[in-house]
Amino acid sequence: MIDFELTDEQKQFQNLARQFARDRIVPVAGEHDRAESYPEEVVRQGYELGLLNTIVPESVGGLGLGSLDEAVIGEELAYGCMGIYTVFMASELGITPLLLAGTPEQHERFLRPLLDGPNLAAFALSEPDNGSDAGAMKTRATFDGDDVVINGSKMWISNGDRAAFTVVFASFDPELRHKGTLAVVVEAGREGFSARKLHGKLGQRASPTAELVFDQVRVPRANILGQPGDGFKIAMRTLDKTRIPVAAGSVGVARRALDEAVGYAVERQAFGKPIARFQAIQFKLADMKIGIETARWQTYRAAWLADRGLPHGEAAAIAKAYASDMAFRAAEEAVNVHGGYGYINEYPVEKLMRDVKLNQIYEGTNEIQRLVIARSLLERRLE
Ligand code: CAA
Repeated sequence: MIDFELTDEQKQFQNLARQFARDRIVPVAGEHDRAESYPEEVVRQGYELGLLNTIVPESVGGLGLGSLDEAVIGEELAYGCMGIYTVFMASELGITPLLLAGTPEQHERFLRPLLDGPNLAAFALSEPDNGSDAGAMKTRATFDGDDVVINGSKMWISNGDRAAFTVVFASFDPELRHKGTLAVVVEAGREGFSARKLHGKLGQRASPTAELVFDQVRVPRANILGQPGDGFKIAMRTLDKTRIPVAAGSVGVARRALDEAVGYAVERQAFGKPIARFQAIQFKLADMKIGIETARWQTYRAAWLADRGLPHGEAAAIAKAYASDMAFRAAEEAVNVHGGYGYINEYPVEKLMRDVKLNQIYEGTNEIQRLVIARSLLERRLE
């Protein structure tokens, strides 16, 4: 049976997140963008409302929300600011490997304390020389008694300089390629661990992004998720889930772009009437609406599959690629509708375009999403 109705609980979260975005995120988003500053107060308020780290399981005191709940909330937060939403989203990215491969004891140690305050998690896969080719990671893990010693560096890590812990992917045997990788939890403050915040991003400037350096960082073997050798697959399974919130955020940005474009088009006069009366503008708005509705249903479908434990990697890749490409086009069209005013930061639309550009790149570029889709499509045909 197909049901297009959200549950009452989902509608409540949607309303809560919508109000929070309107009252708390929208008023400060421009300032955090200009100053490239961490939205500490917003994250604290989000935590107090229960909108942070929502997927932490009930067994350790969390809400235990699912993918569809996350998508519903994510669309609303991103409507307010994609960069601020990325702080929330990247924390759930850091939590997901623990949900997929962590033991109850690891949940107690790492997830329960996360709920004690506006704390964040992070996920460190990409490296200065390896982004799309994640299996070629150079960060090394060496076993030493009951410990693992980590050396190397990670790049483009959202929340990397703020996280209470980071799930780090490293190779313990490069000859085995992906089969020689592990996933390990590294808590902030471990000796030899340092994070350098990166500056000068085009958009999503409220979201802190860092380079992480590991210099003889020693953690107990008990911090390894699953077995040594599982690392790459844990990363892939994580991304299959977390590309869904990226898609949801893209829908939120596109919805905001449409609202801004409509608001401007009904006010702005040209040739003696509001520009919304011209078909050239109406068609842009209609195309934005088509994209938003289509992307949302594909996002919900991927989330629905994930929540039922059904294969969802391909559906998530479709949602992520389609929604982020659509949202970039929508933001660009919102700039076009605004004309010259679209190009100045007194209006919010140029920021939407800068922010959502990243949705086409992170959590696997859209070229990688197409690769995932094509492989799934051709799997059996090219054997
Ligand atoms: N689930 C489970 N297993 C999977 C899998 C999945 N989705 N995808 C691949 N695997 C398994 C394969 O079955 C294979 O297993 P066997 O050896 O047992 O057969 C193994 O993993 C290797 O798979 P591939 O041969 O397909 O691996 P590959 O080297 O060709 O790479 C890839 C595949 C899809 C290109 C992958 O490298 C990839 O997804 N790259 C993009 C990485 C990425 O998304 N990075 C984003 C970083 S996070 C970020 O941006 C966060 C942020 O800060 C916001």
